[in-house]
Amino acid sequence: MGKQVFSIILAAGEGTRMKSKKPKVLHRICGYPIIEYVVRAASEVSDDLPVVVVGHRAEEVKQYLGERVRYAHQPQLLGTGHAVMMAKPVLKDATGYVVILAGDAPLIRGCTLERMVQHAMQGGYGAVVLSAVVDDPAGYGRIIRDDDGDLERIVEHRDATEEQRRIKEVNSSIYCFDVQFLFSTLDKLDNRNSQGEYYLPDAIEIMKRQGAKVGVLVAQDADEVLGINTRIQLAEADRKMRLRINRFHMDRGVTIVDPEHTYIGPDVVIGCDTVVYPGNVLEGSTVIGEDCILYPNNCIVNSTVGNGVQLQASVILDSRIGDGTTVGPYAYLRPGSIIGKGVRIGDFVEIKNSTIGDGTKISHLTYVGDAEVGKGVNLGCGVVFVNYDGIKKHRTVVEDKAFIGCNVNLVAPVRIGQQAYIAAGSTITEDVPGKALAIARERQINKEGWVERRQRIQDTESHA
Ligand code: UD1
Ligand code: CA
Repeated sequence: MGKQVFSIILAAGEGTRMKSKKPKVLHRICGYPIIEYVVRAASEVSDDLPVVVVGHRAEEVKQYLGERVRYAHQPQLLGTGHAVMMAKPVLKDATGYVVILAGDAPLIRGCTLERMVQHAMQGGYGAVVLSAVVDDPAGYGRIIRDDDGDLERIVEHRDATEEQRRIKEVNSSIYCFDVQFLFSTLDKLDNRNSQGEYYLPDAIEIMKRQGAKVGVLVAQDADEVLGINTRIQLAEADRKMRLRINRFHMDRGVTIVDPEHTYIGPDVVIGCDTVVYPGNVLEGSTVIGEDCILYPNNCIVNSTVGNGVQLQASVILDSRIGDGTTVGPYAYLRPGSIIGKGVRIGDFVEIKNSTIGDGTKISHLTYVGDAEVGKGVNLGCGVVFVNYDGIKKHRTVVEDKAFIGCNVNLVAPVRIGQQAYIAAGSTITEDVPGKALAIARERQINKEGWVERRQRIQDTESHA
């Protein structure tokens, strides 16, 4: 068995450059806080729960991450070296290697961390730093190599000379260290630099002076090291993650018409031969079947969509849609909508906490709340399920093949029997038996000659 691997994620910083009330690591890309991606990558290589160093607005970060990780507290933000030192009590008995990650660098892949760990283990390194060659190295620490090309030290941008600033190989802030060697070295750090901070990269130079083997691994994909310090970098990281996710789906047989403008979360599953037009936002644990067409501008969260479904400009939250159903344009499926197969949900239809049976048609301008609607039902235009009496919500049942005319109110609790008909414009407050016709509105009266009579009255009044 190889050595044990632990991980530490640095997430105590304030993120001043974001100009935000929120901690930096809770800003989102592709639907999740950026630290989510870092925790996932770390979990792929660590043998134990990652240790997250929290400080600025620690409670919010802890509330999001919960018990998936362990925590260390950094009471004062004295630098990245100091932050790692705070994890020492949690990892005091650890032996082997520790991977250090920056909470603000979400594009790192688990397989890259794995490569870095293997490199450290096989080469017997005390420290390996992941570097990348980038076009614009401004703000990053620079990798300084000696005449043999070996790592000499890392110089922060602020502390670098003009000449050093021209170096395009940068520190990712992702490392693999011999864990106890690192902790003993951190005691030797000083803060004599432009920021008065204890810099973690300085530990590498100290280790090297003590005769340890230190190395650099260059990331094959420079995007992986992108650190988010500003809103501009947040948008950049979001775009890169978006394209990475979209390429994954295209490789598996999904057509994405415009990958720059299609927003799919990392956990979404999409079946083969489904076509996704621009402006779709698919988030959470959403699953889309095969042969679907997602016309522009749907927002689908934590929902399951069957095969051959067509969706258009609709919002679908915590719901399920069966095979061959069409939804939209402009439909709103709120949580708990269970839609059957071959259903038609048309424009301006809202459904909440209701089941809709196979083959039912709800074509326009209808609200269905807290209901059980059977198979082959037809709801006309403008049907309202009156589910709320101002205090409590009540349920409505519409049995199979019932026909509900246009502009009908179904005042819950109420049950409409199989194959019953409800006349247009009815307000139904009592149950309707199967195969009956219910009419609940005033009978129409036609007043013949009324316009002429009125005209005569007006004429006599004006002559008086
Ligand atoms: C750091 C590196 C730099 C590297 C860059 C890559 C140092 C001194 N510099 O610079 O070489 O090129 O990352 O993105 O390490 N943090 C704490 N406690 C602190 C300070 C920071 O937890 O006291 C955390 C932050 O929350 C952040 C991470 O450490 O997640 C990096 O800190 P940041 O201030 O962003 O460092 P950079 O200036 O970007
Ligand atoms: Ca940073």
